[in-house]
Amino acid sequence: MATRLSGIRLAKRLDEVGFSGIVEVRNKVMELRAEGHKVLGFHGGEPFFDTPQEIKYAAIKALVENQTRYAPSSGLLPLRQALVEKLATKNRIRATVDEVIATVGGSHGLYAAFQSVLDPGDDALVFSPYWTPIADLVTGTQARPLFVPTVSARRNGIRKTLNQFFTPHTRAIYYNTPQNPSGVVFTRTEAEEVAAFAIERDLVVIADEAYEDLVYEGEHVSIASLPGMAERTITCFTFSKTYSMTGWRAGYTVAQEPFMTALRKIVLYSTNGVPTPVQFAMIQALKTPEADIARRRDEYRQRRDLLVAGLNEVGLECPPPAGAFYAFPNAEIVNKYSHTAAQILLQKALVATVPGDFFGAQGEGHLRFSYAVSLHEIESCIDALRKFFA
Ligand SMILES: Cc1ncc(COP(=O)(O)O)c(C=O)c1O
Repeated sequence: MATRLSGIRLAKRLDEVGFSGIVEVRNKVMELRAEGHKVLGFHGGEPFFDTPQEIKYAAIKALVENQTRYAPSSGLLPLRQALVEKLATKNRIRATVDEVIATVGGSHGLYAAFQSVLDPGDDALVFSPYWTPIADLVTGTQARPLFVPTVSARRNGIRKTLNQFFTPHTRAIYYNTPQNPSGVVFTRTEAEEVAAFAIERDLVVIADEAYEDLVYEGEHVSIASLPGMAERTITCFTFSKTYSMTGWRAGYTVAQEPFMTALRKIVLYSTNGVPTPVQFAMIQALKTPEADIARRRDEYRQRRDLLVAGLNEVGLECPPPAGAFYAFPNAEIVNKYSHTAAQILLQKALVATVPGDFFGAQGEGHLRFSYAVSLHEIESCIDALRKFFA
């Protein structure tokens, strides 16, 4: 007898939630490679170096020593102590061990943050272009993302622009610096403007500082360090970029009450914490000398300068990004639709990029190139672009 499935349906709140468009690019690249083409991959978002050995050994040691059992779902105490220390010295965020929580990557922290503060019908202000999953994390709570164009906000005044997009339902601002995909690093004055606006309108700030260590011009300012902000900011960090630990899924979030109660519940019921051996690797990673981080930043800067010079040389107009590891040139000379421009470059130059409209309407007309690749790959990419534009 045939089974009737009419009662089976998905939760409606997922209807508006999309699935990463970057997967589409990745699949196309794999297809071309399988056909024997040498594709230059500039579409990814992973550091160019491997996880440092001492971090890997810390996880191995933890495994061998049977650190394989449940840890507190918020994270091991020594890890949270090390995080408190790091936040105080590097970010000027004063927190207690009860105000930090380990998360399964930065994405998990962001998921928990949005779930903690947004209700159906709420609005969240999001500077755009934005890292693609943010819109889905907001709609996943049945709230609405309101996109604030970063370029015009910086030109016309951050506070004034945020005011224009504000609605009576606005509850939160997503504040990412350095930004993915544009590489924008907000200045201290801009951070102060966002903070003043959040205080004036009584909003929560969800800060995403995934690229805090990759600032080439200017300074990284943690918005939670500004006066009156620690109590209204949930700041999400990740080990993915600084320590090249993308696959380890290691991150953490800092916030005060009442947010911590909510974050603890969400972490408990979504993952029950970060795998215990990974937490030992995180403790080791936090011991990395600042000089090592600075050396890698210089390596990224070298890559940025090489790529940006090459892009401008071939006519893909690109101001040097101040942070993160992406160049976001205007690609209208290839095609005014970034989707088509990316397809053309992939097919004709075998260079894989991400269409700017994946990062919101304000990204249209641009392509995202990740320069977290080898110098040789950047040189090959520029050669391929020169031939394409010749
Ligand atoms: C802006 C931004 N935030 C957060 C993340 C989260 O990274 P992960 O989940 O690997 O820690 C990323 C990763 O690409 C990112 O680009």
